[in-house]
Amino acid sequence: MSVSIKSPKEIELMRKAGRILCITLQELEKSIKPGMSTLQVDKIGEEIIRSYDCIPSFKNYEGYPASICVSINDEVVHGIPNSKHILRDGDIVSLDAGVIYKGYHSDAARTVAVGEVSETARKLIAVTRDSFYEGIKYAKEGYRIGDIGKAIQKYVKSNGFSVVRDLAGHGIGSHLHEEPEVPNFSTFRRGVKLKAGMTIAVEPMVNEGTSDVWWLDDDWTVVTADGLLSAHYENTILITEEEPELLSYPEDLRP
Ligand code: MF3
Ligand code: CO
Repeated sequence: MSVSIKSPKEIELMRKAGRILCITLQELEKSIKPGMSTLQVDKIGEEIIRSYDCIPSFKNYEGYPASICVSINDEVVHGIPNSKHILRDGDIVSLDAGVIYKGYHSDAARTVAVGEVSETARKLIAVTRDSFYEGIKYAKEGYRIGDIGKAIQKYVKSNGFSVVRDLAGHGIGSHLHEEPEVPNFSTFRRGVKLKAGMTIAVEPMVNEGTSDVWWLDDDWTVVTADGLLSAHYENTILITEEEPELLSYPEDLRP
């Protein structure tokens, strides 16, 4: 078991992949309107990715049938796009996408509001996003993988929500999923030591109620066991000796 250290050349390709993914998610987010089907969301996303000469990495990944994971309300992740799944005013929707640029991957997710959503939904989206930033305070050389999850869990819990424990973040590079696993909670052993040049996807999945989840019979869609809301926030990041670089959220693309 070993975690790869990326070369400057590999990092440059991952920067390009990350930038294109960031733009894709931003454009996709802008296109979200009540009345759209999740299949339409997938089509728009795939078109954007291919327009930048990238490959949508999720398509056919272990049999996943689409380019974007579109998960509504109590769907945690891996919602399969479907022409019958319609976004309605008041829903929250998680958009998760992956791109490959010249053999290198980037993976990121955002949860967005469809029209006007409840106060709780707004808070859940914000806490999920902010828990990522709490976690990556420890994403630098010298800390361990487990320090990230511990900080995420602490922040989520203090805000009255729960982190999903059955799914985790992951290393990423020439493959979508590489070592190490990046859990969103504290673990008995704190995991591998972080070193400059490691690239990982940190992705808190946060539930309004219980942390328990179920898989639907489609073998993909993960839903909350209690039917309450769930949100997701993910970026591909580069570990350095200082602050991590958010490869899928470059500084010049932030508001
Ligand atoms: N972002 C998810 C992950 O990191 C999505 C991949 S599942 C796929 O695991 F099958 F859709 F690719
Ligand atoms: Co991921």
